[in-house]
Amino acid sequence: MTNSKKVALTGIKPTGIPHLGNFFGAIAPALEATQKQDEQGIYFVANLHALTSTIEPALLKKHTYEVAATWLALGLNPEETIFFRQSDILELTAIYWILCCETQQGLLDRAHAYKAAKDKGQMINAGVYTYPVLMAADILAFHASVVPIGEDQKQHVEYARDIAQRFNHTYGSVLTIPEPRISQEVAVVVGTDGRKMSKSYQNTIPIFASDATLKKAVFSIQTDSTPLESPKDPNANSIYKLYQLLTQKEQAQTLHQKISTGHFGWGDAKKELLAATIAKFKEQRLLFESLMNNTEEIEKIFAFGALRAQKIARQTLQALQSARGIA
Ligand code: ADP
Ligand code: TRP
Repeated sequence: MTNSKKVALTGIKPTGIPHLGNFFGAIAPALEATQKQDEQGIYFVANLHALTSTIEPALLKKHTYEVAATWLALGLNPEETIFFRQSDILELTAIYWILCCETQQGLLDRAHAYKAAKDKGQMINAGVYTYPVLMAADILAFHASVVPIGEDQKQHVEYARDIAQRFNHTYGSVLTIPEPRISQEVAVVVGTDGRKMSKSYQNTIPIFASDATLKKAVFSIQTDSTPLESPKDPNANSIYKLYQLLTQKEQAQTLHQKISTGHFGWGDAKKELLAATIAKFKEQRLLFESLMNNTEEIEKIFAFGALRAQKIARQTLQALQSARGIA
């Protein structure tokens, strides 16, 4: 890592094979950002954050590999971007504790995610409550200047700023103050039911699912019963909207024309959307599958990333320890 580059860091929670919303909203822009010459990208699989909810161990492991395989298949270059698994960096949990001791209860009481869990009467463990502190540890350990995230994570980056400012104020300038990067221009990708595509609505089209699962997802898109012969409004449901994202302009125009001319059913349109989805990720899917069949390769990439990440996190930990008088 060259010191002159500013660090852009983000964590990706392992919640399964990403869907088209994740791809167009987060993954594609994040991969594009890794091409910036003046930035060092640091991306990691945030599996420690996944522990706040009960999840079967084998499933968490699988999701961790799926997320890593997705990013690698879609073009993340682990030589350029520092890419690692959060749990491999033990320094992060040590930093987390030091930062916990700089975090006021009032701050955590006001956290959106904690408040939402409390309002729903959910069981709340200390991990849920201190989630923002672990996230601050991730961000501050690597001296991130920018943190590309979705709107929902903005408060967490603000907390990381608060915690860093408080630490620096008391113990001297040790930590870099991060800024969130939220791309406003990324449109919300619609799901099969017309709402925002989201795992929590079960309306997703996962990009690397099996053909059968993909087919089921595409054919579950809700449509009206306009007769096959009738002209239809291409924007009446999600089919054309998704198709437009996946294809070149001319190809999208052709489908637009077919739908609006008539003698073309929604079932026909779904077939075209399915074919376009498969075509868009054809080569990447092969790579994804080969990585999922060879998780030792993913482990090697994790190990390589861990070495690089550890070096940086250890220096930060040492600075914090020395500032607090424990080393
Ligand atoms: P989900 O809602 O399926 O749980 P996440 O909250 O894990 O998705 O989202 C991960 C990233 O993908 C976030 O940066 C988020 O902004 C982006 N994202 C998720 N769904 C969409 C969508 N439908 N359209 C655009 N971006 C999305
Ligand atoms: N909490 C983030 C999410 O749920 C994931 C995450 C963990 C993260 N650590 C991070 C994001 C550090 C940015 C920076 O999506």
